[in-house]
Amino acid sequence: MKDSGINRLSPSILAADFNILGEQIAAVSKAGADFLHFDVMDGLFVPSISFGIPVLQSIRKKTDMFLDVHLMIKEPIRYVKTFAEAGADLITVHYEACGNVKETLAAIRETGKKVGITIKPGTDVSVLEDYIEDVDLILIMSVEPGFGGQKLLPETYERLKKVRKMISGMKKPPLLEVDGGITLDNVKDILEAGADTIVAGSSVFRGDIAENVTAFEKILKNKAGGKGVPLR
Ligand code: DX5
Ligand code: ZN
Repeated sequence: MKDSGINRLSPSILAADFNILGEQIAAVSKAGADFLHFDVMDGLFVPSISFGIPVLQSIRKKTDMFLDVHLMIKEPIRYVKTFAEAGADLITVHYEACGNVKETLAAIRETGKKVGITIKPGTDVSVLEDYIEDVDLILIMSVEPGFGGQKLLPETYERLKKVRKMISGMKKPPLLEVDGGITLDNVKDILEAGADTIVAGSSVFRGDIAENVTAFEKILKNKAGGKGVPLR
């Protein structure tokens, strides 16, 4: 996969039909999605429990897509190495879930995988300032993490603008990803607010997957992208 500073789509398999997960991943890949978003929930940091290591391992065996792993788990440092070995290409952890954020980011870096940090909607974006040099990706949650299919929170636009400004002077700025409630109707505004990597669950996996991905990609590729670090 080439990474040339364009906008990317990261379909979230949380919204997939798990009876035919392999087929659906092949469909998003064939339709041109760049990343695959993998939401891990522990029932503690967020109320729900999703899926974990064995599922990631089996996906890794069958696809060469860039696996974008979003850990919604308490003290993620405990599992960083395991997810790296299971096939993650990027591991994103929650600022709010880490006892020591710097140590956790360093532990991901040590595995040789890309490093991501994310914040919940209620966390001030200014907390990210201390970490922008340590990460390859910043994820702004546009819904309260825990469930797919929610409505995007309107304050997301301002939050993205602030983070884009925060990283704009950097030589190699991290990617700026957004996750939750993204649709074909709001994605253009989301890109304009500064995001360059779009997570979408329901709006990709509901209905015709190939058509949905193609429609997203058309909007994404028509906009100038962020200048994120090459991820591969
Ligand atoms: C929420 C997850 C999201 C979610 C996105 O906790 O991190 O990835 O699945 O799903 P949609 O696009 O349906 O809001
Ligand atoms: Zn996610």
